Amino acid sequence: RPGAAGFVPEGADLEQLRQAAPACRGCELWEPATQVVFSAGAPDGRLALVGEQPGDQEDRRGVPFVGPAGRLLQKAVAEAGIDVATTYVTNAVKHFRFTQKDPGSRRIHASPDVGHVNACRPWLAAELAVVNPDVIVCLGATAAKALLPKDFRVTKHRGQLIVQTTSRGEKTFMGTIHPSAVLRVPEADRDAAYAGLVADLRTAAAALG
Ligand code: URA
Ligand code: SF4
Repeated sequence: RPGAAGFVPEGADLEQLRQAAPACRGCELWEPATQVVFSAGAPDGRLALVGEQPGDQEDRRGVPFVGPAGRLLQKAVAEAGIDVATTYVTNAVKHFRFTQKDPGSRRIHASPDVGHVNACRPWLAAELAVVNPDVIVCLGATAAKALLPKDFRVTKHRGQLIVQTTSRGEKTFMGTIHPSAVLRVPEADRDAAYAGLVADLRTAAAALG
């Protein structure tokens, strides 16, 4: 696993990064996947939303957060008073990791491990440096692993604003639950989980000032 660093063009703008990403061989995830899923949303968004990795539908369409988790996220973002058109949306890992019994059978999501997150981080670092958002929300533990302090735990620290120094100066970060986690909780608790996500997004929006 050489990591993505050697595949990220230096001094590239967002379009150049997007065009270079399909050639990445920084880890083994590119091979079984359909395509790289780079990012979507506002290239100058003040708020960035960072997910885990593309899912099945994202892998097929080449766009992040277009499946069930994406629909829930879009609803939560709107409910938090955030104009989705002003957000930049990306993932910690740019290729879909999955398991599959036989070719043609359903592809089952497999979480990327820390090695994949580390391998892919140069893309995330490069795009965030170019987009330069003021507030960066990590959705779930994988995105948190990519961008937040090592001792960050979603259960303990979600919703807290964390100021960190980046290549573009001090930025505000937050970790919260992943929208897929809302979809996975038992029906009886789902409304509360969803409300928690909306509340955290509201805190992030307020940090934009
Ligand atoms: N889950 C993610 O983390 N990212 C996507 O793009 C889709 C689902
Ligand atoms: Fe490169 Fe990231 Fe894809 Fe691995 S997951 S091949 S590091 S773009």
